[in-house]
Amino acid sequence: MSTTISAKMSELLKDPSLVKTGSLINGDWHSSDATFDVLNPYDQEVLVSVSEVAKDDMSQVEKAIASAKRAQQEWQQKTAYERYDLMMAWFDLMIQHKEDLAIIMTLEQGKPLKESRGEIEYGASYVKWFAEESKRIYGDTIPALASNQTIKVIKEPVGVVAAITPWNFPNSMLARKIAPAIAAGNSIVARPTELTPLSALVLGELANRAGIPKGVINILVGSNAKEVGKVLTTHEDVDKFSFTGSTNVGKLLMEQCASTVKKVSFELGGNAPFIVFEDADIDAAVDGAIKAKFRNAGQTCVCVNRIMVHSSVHDEFVEKFVEKVKLLDVGNGLDNVDIGPLIHPKAADDVRELVREATEQGATIKYGQLLSGTIQSPIVITDVNNEMQIAKTEIFGPVAAIQRFETEKQAVLLANDTPFGLASYFYSQNASRIERVSRGLKYGIVGVNEGLISNAAAPFGGVKQSGFGREGSLYGLDDYLNMKYICTTYEMS
Ligand code: SIN
Repeated sequence: MSTTISAKMSELLKDPSLVKTGSLINGDWHSSDATFDVLNPYDQEVLVSVSEVAKDDMSQVEKAIASAKRAQQEWQQKTAYERYDLMMAWFDLMIQHKEDLAIIMTLEQGKPLKESRGEIEYGASYVKWFAEESKRIYGDTIPALASNQTIKVIKEPVGVVAAITPWNFPNSMLARKIAPAIAAGNSIVARPTELTPLSALVLGELANRAGIPKGVINILVGSNAKEVGKVLTTHEDVDKFSFTGSTNVGKLLMEQCASTVKKVSFELGGNAPFIVFEDADIDAAVDGAIKAKFRNAGQTCVCVNRIMVHSSVHDEFVEKFVEKVKLLDVGNGLDNVDIGPLIHPKAADDVRELVREATEQGATIKYGQLLSGTIQSPIVITDVNNEMQIAKTEIFGPVAAIQRFETEKQAVLLANDTPFGLASYFYSQNASRIERVSRGLKYGIVGVNEGLISNAAAPFGGVKQSGFGREGSLYGLDDYLNMKYICTTYEMS
């Protein structure tokens, strides 16, 4: 397969053969004449052209599902210890090639190199975590109703898993679906977005190098998202479907999955509140808000969307927050800035439109200015309220929207006043309030005096229209296992 990568990309990588330009199907790299370009969001430079997996016909998608089905039969026969060894070999390669993987990610996704390095470690940590968990897939015995009966519960792989993943975390979102899937004895057909295919394909290349058997991991890349998604969600041979992306697309895919009653998990949009109570350590709250707002230029589902500050500490918080925001460098992710470009010009324009609309409705720009193109420096706006679109929509950009509240009750009501329920945050030093508010927030994740809540040991996932299912932690495997109850009656001697 030809892999003509841009001269710049080639120059930057120690091992340019890590860049793959076609889908991984049954351990082989697919190539076709129909291609799509992968662009650097910073300057729109073409990094590489990638083969379309399914421009006009779905035969390659069918082939990937068939190979996953075949491979799963043998993969599930391996002992947990054999699966552990292969997954750990894969993990070691990710760490060994961390720098190249980070450069590939920054080039195609835009995030600052230090964040890309962090994401490679974060993604790899899911592989290690689930390799270890594969040895702890326990069952149960339950006291039976009759003395000559046993009731056993065993856990079995679901079979073939299909997954669709987004561009904002092109390595870790995929790793945290593939890792539990294969740790549990399943095979997988994954469809990462066409905006960031290289970070996904390199995981496939490293899986091949690690010796993970052909067909256990298949990765399909192409611009034909709708059609490929339709096959993956309706195919009789796909047993489980996992999706991370927008709530609107999630609803459609969920509907499609109903036709074959698949086991499903969905990690959808968020609208994270960040509440600063009057008894908070304000400096700690400012630091937490900076981390939780500006990670990945604000393009995460757990990024702070609504900062709510008690009136009595509002001005102090805003002043200190703006001082910290002024220190954030913006530019090319390769230059190791704090904030890289947004994923594409339209996404950046949408963010700016939200700010314009909010100011027309009474919000005030305290810091920053609206730019053009994919680079957008941070903006801080105040006088926001929950009725504004900017408080209802996932901003997905480096805009901090601040509103005031007067009482704890009001803060919790405002925080819960959204159809979403993924991540939430609050800062307080009052033990009773910490307990009350933690329980009062209708969210899957609550950060208390903490702005960074993601790690492989913790169950990541939401409630309400943010979806269901959990990724990471000991609970993360359950989404990839079926429970079987076995009732045995035996002869008494
Ligand atoms: C997300 O944006 O949904 C995931 C972010 C994370 O893993 O922290």
